Amino acid sequence: MTDAIVVEGLVKRFGATTALDGVDLTVTEGSVLGLLGPNGAGKTTVVRILSTLLEPDGGHAQVAGLDVVRDAHAVRAAIGLTGQYAAVDEYLTGYENLEMVGRLYRLSKAEARSRAGELLERFDLTGAAKRPAKTYSGGMRRRLDIAASLINRPRVLFLDEPTTGLDPRSRLAMWEFIAELADGGTTILLTTQYLEEADRLADRMVVIDSGTVIARGTADELKAQVGGQRLEFTVADAAVLPGMVAELRYLAVDEPHVDVAGRRLSLPVSGGAEVLAEALSRLDGSVAQIVDVGLRRPDLDDVFLALTGRVAEEAVPDDEQPAEPVAAGGNR
Ligand SMILES: Nc1ncnc2c1ncn2[C@@H]1O[C@H](COP(=O)(O)OP(=O)(O)OP(=O)(O)O)[C@@H](O)[C@H]1O
Ligand SMILES: [Mg+2]
Repeated sequence: MTDAIVVEGLVKRFGATTALDGVDLTVTEGSVLGLLGPNGAGKTTVVRILSTLLEPDGGHAQVAGLDVVRDAHAVRAAIGLTGQYAAVDEYLTGYENLEMVGRLYRLSKAEARSRAGELLERFDLTGAAKRPAKTYSGGMRRRLDIAASLINRPRVLFLDEPTTGLDPRSRLAMWEFIAELADGGTTILLTTQYLEEADRLADRMVVIDSGTVIARGTADELKAQVGGQRLEFTVADAAVLPGMVAELRYLAVDEPHVDVAGRRLSLPVSGGAEVLAEALSRLDGSVAQIVDVGLRRPDLDDVFLALTGRVAEEAVPDDEQPAEPVAAGGNR
């Protein structure tokens, strides 16, 4: 199998900020890579370099066998990009937006039109095709944006937070589109703040923090790094947590984690339901305080927390919003 994306020692500085500090990654042709990391980790910077919008200060990168600096023109013809913020022309209709992008990709007028119609149909926008994009909801813009990135049938597609701001139903629909593209053989590099999204769509993941790769592997490999099962309790009153920790510590295979504000106790354990039963019988006297209890395998959120010390953020901080409120009218 060949690699559709090869990144070696990528460095990018913005003044005193080192946004990328030697990033290496590869993406096998036809696969989906999830690029994860907290806000400011450098995800968008990777995407911008790979899509030729930005030149690196060090290292190199190839996309579809082409150097992103030397062969930038050819790279652009081979890729599709959906940026973190929708790049839709507000005053053009959905149809006109796609036709314009098609023309930018040098399709003939007839081709651009037929491709626009096809994509509007596919993204369920035919009914809104003749309305200016400024009347679209956030979810519709996002769909139009992705449609635009597919106009040239790219072999490699970059999706920078493709579902941020979408409601759960639109997000599910978007996941289906992306999975279909991947099944059709498109190589996809996807950044996301939704770890469930990466879990569903990505064959492999790379986690970056402060411009450095801190972990890589399949979802299962990453979860295995974080450890096994946890016994989790939510209680009515956080005051009982220290007593519970003392009572149950002997069951834990690693440090128990107490979340006072969330009134939760998480206990890394080995073993299954019998540990749960044992814990409950041990707690007999204080069981009335327990509002929820369960045995849980680590998910990617746990992985992310363990690796970066932060929970995955869903929203973009205000000071990082783009100048234009492009996502206004979204479905948040
Ligand atoms: N044009 C720029 N000028 C100055 N600093 C920049 C520029 N672009 C990015 N940075 C800085 O580089 C670092 C990486 O930014 P980047 O946008 O790649 O992060 P990200 O992982 O995409 O974050 P987010 O999850 O918030 O989208 C940040 O510290 C950011 O402030
Ligand atoms: Mg970003």
